[in-house]
Amino acid sequence: MKLYLFSFLKEVYYSVQLYFQVKKPINSYSTIATRRVELQENPDLPKVDVLTQVITEQDEDGKYLTEVEMADKLFGFIVGGYDTTATTITLVMKYLKEKPEFFNEIMEEQNEISRNMMPRIVLCWDDIQKMRKTWSFVNEVLRDTPVVQGLFREAIEDITYNDFLIPKGWKIYLSFGATQKNGEYFPNPTKFDPCRFEGNGQLVPYTSAPFGGGHKICPGREFARILILVFLHNVLKNFQWEAKDPSEKILWPYFLVPIPTAGYPVTLSTV
Ligand code: HEM
Repeated sequence: MKLYLFSFLKEVYYSVQLYFQVKKPINSYSTIATRRVELQENPDLPKVDVLTQVITEQDEDGKYLTEVEMADKLFGFIVGGYDTTATTITLVMKYLKEKPEFFNEIMEEQNEISRNMMPRIVLCWDDIQKMRKTWSFVNEVLRDTPVVQGLFREAIEDITYNDFLIPKGWKIYLSFGATQKNGEYFPNPTKFDPCRFEGNGQLVPYTSAPFGGGHKICPGREFARILILVFLHNVLKNFQWEAKDPSEKILWPYFLVPIPTAGYPVTLSTV
C-alpha cells in the first residue's frame, strides 16, 4: 500500500476534525464572504466555529477585522495548530526509520505500555506519561529539525544585554535553529542523542524551546504532545513502513515548516 504520509495525516486531521469545525482547508476569501452572507441571512446560526468567531469579533470601537486580517488569522491557526503536529509526526517517523538504533528501545517502551494496559486497549493519561523515551526522541527530532524556526519578541523598554542596547519597540528574533545547535548548550550538537532530554539535569532552561516560552508559550503544546504520542503508539503497534526514497531530503518550501521534499511517501503494511 503506497501512502504519502504528509497527505495521509492531513486526511486524518480533517476526518477527526480536532481543531476546527471545517472539513476542507480555508483557501480563499470566498469562504469568508460566503459565511458572512450566511450569517447576515440567518443571525441565529451557531457561532462556535473559529471562522464565525473571527468574522463577528469587534474591537472596543465596534470595528470588525478586515478580510485580509481574518484570512491571516485563519491561516495562522491552521498552520500553528495542524501543520506543526502533522510535520512533527512525519519527521519522527522518518527519523525512526533512519535511526534504527533507537527504534527497538522505543518499540520496547510502547510494547510494555500495551502489556500493562491489558485487557484495556485504549490509552489513558497514565500510559501517555510513561512514554518518556518516545517523547525524548520527539524532542531530539525537534532539536535537530525545529518545526518552528524561531519567534519574535518586542522590547517593551530599552534593554542592555552584553553591552548591546536594544531600544524599546525593536523586534528581537530568537532563532531556535541556532540555539539548539550551539555546542555550549548541547555538547556534540550534530550527534542525534535523545538522552539529552531524559532528565539528567544538563539541559539549560529555554535552550530547547520547541513550544516557545513565557506568557506567549504555545497553548496547544499539551494537546500536541498527546496527539503525537497517541498517533505514534498506534502506528508502531499496528504498522510497519518503508520509505519509498530513503534519501529523501527535508526542506523548508513554505518558509514555515520543514517538510520532506516528496511528502515522505511510504509503503505501509500491517504488523
Ligand atoms: C508540535 C506541535 C507544535 C509546535 C512545535 C508549536 C510551536 C509553537 C510556538 C513556538 C509558538 C510561539 C510561542 C511563543 O511565542 O513563545 C506557538 C504558538 C501558538 N500555538 Fe503552537 N505549536 C504546536 C502545536 C499547536 C497546536 C496543536 C495548537 C492548537 C490546537 C497550537 C496553537 C498555538 C497558538 C494559538 C499559538 C499562538 C499563541 C499566542 O500568540 O499567544 N499549537 N506554537
